[in-house]
Amino acid sequence: MRDKVCLITGGNSGIGKAAAIQLAQLGIKVIIGCRNEERGSAALKEIKDKSKNEHVELLLIDLSSQTSIKKAVNAFKSKHKVLDILIHNAADFDISRKTPQFSKEDVETVWATNHIGPVLLTELLMDELRQSEQGRIITVSSQGLIMHPFLKVDLEDPELRERKYSVEKAYYQSKLAQVMYTYWLSEKLKDTPVTVNCIRVTNVKIDIDRYPDISGVMKRMYSVKSRFSISPEKMAETYTYLATSPEVEHVTGKYFNEKRETVSSSNYSQNQDDIREVMGMTMKYIRV
Ligand SMILES: NC(=O)c1ccc[n+]([C@@H]2O[C@H](COP(=O)([O-])OP(=O)(O)OC[C@H]3O[C@@H](n4cnc5c(N)ncnc54)[C@H](OP(=O)(O)O)[C@@H]3O)[C@@H](O)[C@H]2O)c1
Repeated sequence: MRDKVCLITGGNSGIGKAAAIQLAQLGIKVIIGCRNEERGSAALKEIKDKSKNEHVELLLIDLSSQTSIKKAVNAFKSKHKVLDILIHNAADFDISRKTPQFSKEDVETVWATNHIGPVLLTELLMDELRQSEQGRIITVSSQGLIMHPFLKVDLEDPELRERKYSVEKAYYQSKLAQVMYTYWLSEKLKDTPVTVNCIRVTNVKIDIDRYPDISGVMKRMYSVKSRFSISPEKMAETYTYLATSPEVEHVTGKYFNEKRETVSSSNYSQNQDDIREVMGMTMKYIRV
């Protein structure tokens, strides 16, 4: 039997790396999509060592850049004809950032990385996903959205160019857009074997050393928060479940928590008119 192939973005750190190890342990050919060669290579070695699976690959990809995504997809296609599992795990959430950053293509990086990048990457890999007997697309959102029940995607200014910037605002908006994208795409693919589900990631321990510029207050806050966090490995179990379990073979358009239960998202995120508007605006960014 052919080994299944999984591409997971942000596979060099945190939950993405933990999920890559679990999936490789199951004999899946895992490709970690990373933007930094040094961090990616170090993670590649660790994933191979821990999983005892040599079939792990590194794909260089910067999700904030459509040029980089296209280059990475071409590199993927030169080696693989089928993609069974695509996990959109990478996210830009630099908690020390005070002002917006813009990608090489002049798009605010949180919006570009967390929402536009995954939409383009899926679009470009759709033929390979459809070659799988049962392709699975997994998007990643955040439990923190519960604290913003009335949040909407700003159709006029999704990059927060005209409003006061905060990385938190940009982040939650991008994660809300990913939930809506999940519903939209699952509907589009409903007559195919390809499923699309979203994970509501809970409070998971982060590696605070990844943010050398954060203030002492923030550092203390995260240290307290980490006492109530679950491990990346525990959270990754939901990724692995959705990526591999026969139980969810025909489940699509759902939102899952860390206990593998389906949960519901805000009323706004489920409204068909709003979904259409958000995806209409999203598609104006996509340059296939
Ligand atoms: N931890 C939590 O409490 C929590 C809560 C809710 C949701 N989540 C979600 O869970 C997912 C995993 O988070 P985590 O806690 O494991 O965070 P993490 O350790 O910071 O991992 C984030 C990953 O995304 C990558 N990344 C960032 N920008 C990128 C870009 N432009 N192109 C390619 N890769 C990029 C990072 O690569 P570099 O190493 O190069 O930076 C890193 O590998 C994210 O989608 C996050 O939003 C986490």
